[in-house]
Amino acid sequence: MGVAVDEFDPRTAPDADLLALKRLVYDHRIVVLRNQDLSPADFVAFGRRLGEVETYYQPMYHHPEYPEIFVSSNVKEEGEQVGVPQTGKFWHHDYSFMPNPFGLTLIYPQVVPQKNRGTFFIDMARAYQDLPEELKAEIKGTRSLNSVRRYFKIRPTDVYRPISEVLAEIERETPASAHPTVFTHPVTGEQVLYISEAVTYQLEDAEGTALREDLLTDLFQACGQADTTFEHANIHLQTFDKGDLLVWDNRALVHRALHTPNPEPTVSYRVTVHDEHEFYPGIGARPTAG
Ligand SMILES: [Fe+2]
Repeated sequence: MGVAVDEFDPRTAPDADLLALKRLVYDHRIVVLRNQDLSPADFVAFGRRLGEVETYYQPMYHHPEYPEIFVSSNVKEEGEQVGVPQTGKFWHHDYSFMPNPFGLTLIYPQVVPQKNRGTFFIDMARAYQDLPEELKAEIKGTRSLNSVRRYFKIRPTDVYRPISEVLAEIERETPASAHPTVFTHPVTGEQVLYISEAVTYQLEDAEGTALREDLLTDLFQACGQADTTFEHANIHLQTFDKGDLLVWDNRALVHRALHTPNPEPTVSYRVTVHDEHEFYPGIGARPTAG
């Protein structure tokens, strides 16, 4: 999984090269653009060249000047917290709890840890292929319910608020989203298993009847998301160096940050993009679960 590309300048690359870049992402899941030197404005502009940039719904993650940039950081700037520390400590897709997720995630590390750095990925198209036939049969035509509620991060503005109020707000602002448990990747045509340990809390059949409770557990075990040793054959650790810019396929991949008990300084910028394809066929007509 993954390819590296040298001498790609997002500021001057012709449109045809951007299309070729996207095709590389769909075919190899992760593209690492090496030796990048982009300003925050350049990074956002690059996202715009790839499609429609999605700004994260919670302002506490925003870059102070460029809200389109999601900042993951444990480094204080002039005593102020910018962005949010310890993000993505669990298997997830970006925005799968939303009704219309985006196809591309761009990560541009700014402060790179010396020792432990990288992001874990699982290719959920490959994981689907490798599922036992009984599990494939069991999830055929079903849908998953996805919510941010389990890993919602309490914000500084939530301090002293009753937890019930915060929970009610989460349900109001981000009600659970229903997605097909398996969908067809609109570019590669592969079948993708679209569930994540952090966000998917239930599977149901076409009539809305809940499927057996341990089905999700069985699926997470089979695909590698339940493996806390990170030794499952499906798990890929993608490392990076300063200057790398990662573009990945947010349809096919689940990811999880590599965190350590004593984290080193780390800062990362993220831009997320809706490409020119539907996230999955028919998503426009799909209702949101309550
Ligand atoms: Fe993420």
